[in-house]
Amino acid sequence: MLGMVVVSVLATIVGIAISLAIDWFPPQASTAAEDIDLLWDVLMIASVPIFVLVMSVAIYSVLLFRAKPGDLSDGAPIHGNTRLEIVWVTIPFIMVSALAAYGWVVLNDIEEKQANDMVVNVTAQQFAWRFDYPDDGKVKSNQLVLAKDRPVEFHVRTEDVLHAFWVPEFRLKTDTVPGLTTQIRVTPSKIGEYEVVCTELCGLGHSTMRQNVRVVSQEEFDTWLSEEQKQEQGEQASAAGGDQASEGKRVFTEDGCASCHSLADAESASRIGPGLDDLGDTARRMGKRHGQSPAQYVRAAIANPDASLTRDFNAGVMPTDFEKRLSPAEIDTLVKYLLSVSGGSK
Ligand code: CUA
Repeated sequence: MLGMVVVSVLATIVGIAISLAIDWFPPQASTAAEDIDLLWDVLMIASVPIFVLVMSVAIYSVLLFRAKPGDLSDGAPIHGNTRLEIVWVTIPFIMVSALAAYGWVVLNDIEEKQANDMVVNVTAQQFAWRFDYPDDGKVKSNQLVLAKDRPVEFHVRTEDVLHAFWVPEFRLKTDTVPGLTTQIRVTPSKIGEYEVVCTELCGLGHSTMRQNVRVVSQEEFDTWLSEEQKQEQGEQASAAGGDQASEGKRVFTEDGCASCHSLADAESASRIGPGLDDLGDTARRMGKRHGQSPAQYVRAAIANPDASLTRDFNAGVMPTDFEKRLSPAEIDTLVKYLLSVSGGSK
């Protein structure tokens, strides 16, 4: 018995030491990270002794009270032990309630509304993230840029299925649910480059649904934002004035095409869908077969991808609602752009 107690105490000490020594998480890059990591440590410190106690009693009983070979008699009748039962109900009840209360306090704390926070709308779609900054001149971006120490309120929605928005270094995560806008608050606390990771199995491209997050100084953020604003205005002007190529490239990279299709001109290398560098040839060949011009073929393939599958690619992967998501003018521009950079408009 004494040996058992000594072994249990040692196992508890070693278990807690290991659980605290292991570097479970990536660097802390938000104000919430420290609280959440501390919460984790407290949970580990509380769990290891319980685990060791339960296992010690189980192992002790198995070793000492097992039936001798050939002993088929019944065990002694036991009528319970009221005092012991009160102890083993009360202590876990107090522990679980205390940990729940602690967790609630931490959650409440990190979800508290901050003064001067900035809203960032996050839109998920198979298989890309899009970010826009509605407070600041409607800037749209396919990378997330944030200012250090500036609280952010993310409004997260999805255009298609369930995804989950997660930046491990911020320690915060929220699901994207069709028909709902979920919210999450973060105050980035460390300059650096991180990744948004999708953590809800959302289709073939799920594992590649990652995008860059940059936390920069407030000055650098302001510079970035004003450059984006200028670019956005330039794009609108050039779209109106007929600079089709850059507008087409913008649609390609910002509206999700680039997350699945490779295209040298747009510096995209993803291989979930067919590569588009030789789209011109394909569109000519396939269009001829169906009595379509190359442009008609590409347009039909965007609107109804499963009807124009090429070798090695499966139905049901590319979203079928691009005709609704994009305006007719955007599709037009996109088709022209794609053909012009893939030798299809020769
Ligand atoms: Cu989106 Cu997984």
